[in-house]
Amino acid sequence: MKTMNNKLPNLNGQKILITGGLGFIGSNLAHKCLELGAKVTIYDCLDTHSGGNLYNIHDIQDSVELVYYNILNFEQLSQHIINKDIIFNCAASTSHPFSMREPWIDLDVNSRGVINILEAIRRFNRDVKFVQLGTSSQLGKLQYQPADEKHPEFPADIYSANKSVSEKYVLIYANAYKIRATVIRLSNVFGPRASIHSSEFTFNNYFIGLALQGKDITVFGKGKQKRNAIYVDDAIAAIILASQTNKINGETFFAVGDKHYTIAEIAKKTVQYIGSGKVRFVRWPKGRKLIDVGDAVISNQKIKEVLDWAPRHDLKNGLIKTKAYYRNCLKKYLR
Ligand SMILES: NC(=O)c1ccc[n+]([C@@H]2O[C@H](COP(=O)([O-])OP(=O)(O)OC[C@H]3O[C@@H](n4cnc5c(N)ncnc54)[C@H](O)[C@@H]3O)[C@@H](O)[C@H]2O)c1
Repeated sequence: MKTMNNKLPNLNGQKILITGGLGFIGSNLAHKCLELGAKVTIYDCLDTHSGGNLYNIHDIQDSVELVYYNILNFEQLSQHIINKDIIFNCAASTSHPFSMREPWIDLDVNSRGVINILEAIRRFNRDVKFVQLGTSSQLGKLQYQPADEKHPEFPADIYSANKSVSEKYVLIYANAYKIRATVIRLSNVFGPRASIHSSEFTFNNYFIGLALQGKDITVFGKGKQKRNAIYVDDAIAAIILASQTNKINGETFFAVGDKHYTIAEIAKKTVQYIGSGKVRFVRWPKGRKLIDVGDAVISNQKIKEVLDWAPRHDLKNGLIKTKAYYRNCLKKYLR
């Protein structure tokens, strides 16, 4: 019987590169890796179409190496890959609607950028452990639920399609070149340091931003689609655990929460635990319904069994902790 204790390792002295380390997940990862004793390099170009925010590392900026470059710059990227023990790729163009408006940018960052990292690893640092982040939206409209890692992928937007393709690149490099690489797929991660100002990014973080400002939350249609939601610390624990073992090289895992909620429930709980506004239901805007995938119920059984991991926060505890984080710094996240 597994203990599911999420016991994080001591990373003492390990040299870690976090591409996209100014973003939501990358910056939370940087905080945790420092706490565990690692030497952290953040590589991020503060892309204006993504959720990066310099404030995310204001309290650790003297403890990390910060490199302002684009992952599309292969020469620069390679120099920072050469001497690392672990690479976490959190750099991505992360907006689904933006990917539909500017598919070439999404293609560059989310596909070519990943090839750049893999090629730099293949040429200059075959021993490094690499963790790539994928997304549950790679699956598109689900054919069976709960979906698991064997579910086929029919992405409904360009971002999800490029995340799907780049995941395949990672698995190809792991198999063909024995690169020590694993993919962790996430879904609706929420919590501190997220991009809460814009509906372009994860819907639940946007709801949190509205609630923190005391504004009403708008839900398209009836909001009956079921979604997973995972507190960021739980996602970070899964990502770090994935970096510590070779038995999962060339594999993909869903690191998602135990419970699923309808979008309307997420909106209502967000108001209940964070804000003072109301939940309003409105008609779908043109174009948005076409890329909505409906219910998305996903299983986390595989990662629980293989990595001794389990989510530790439910929606309520996660929202309460999130509110506490933004209490003194909300303005830094409203742009
Ligand atoms: N947040 C979620 O709910 C969620 C869900 C599923 C998957 N993911 C995946 O997790 C990863 C991190 O997502 P996030 O929510 O932290 O996103 P984010 O938008 O907050 O951060 C992305 C970071 O990447 C940087 N970046 C973008 N293009 C770059 C480039 N060309 N070169 C260097 N840096 C670049 C941005 O400046 C930003 O700091 C992504 O791969 C995303 O697909 C996130």
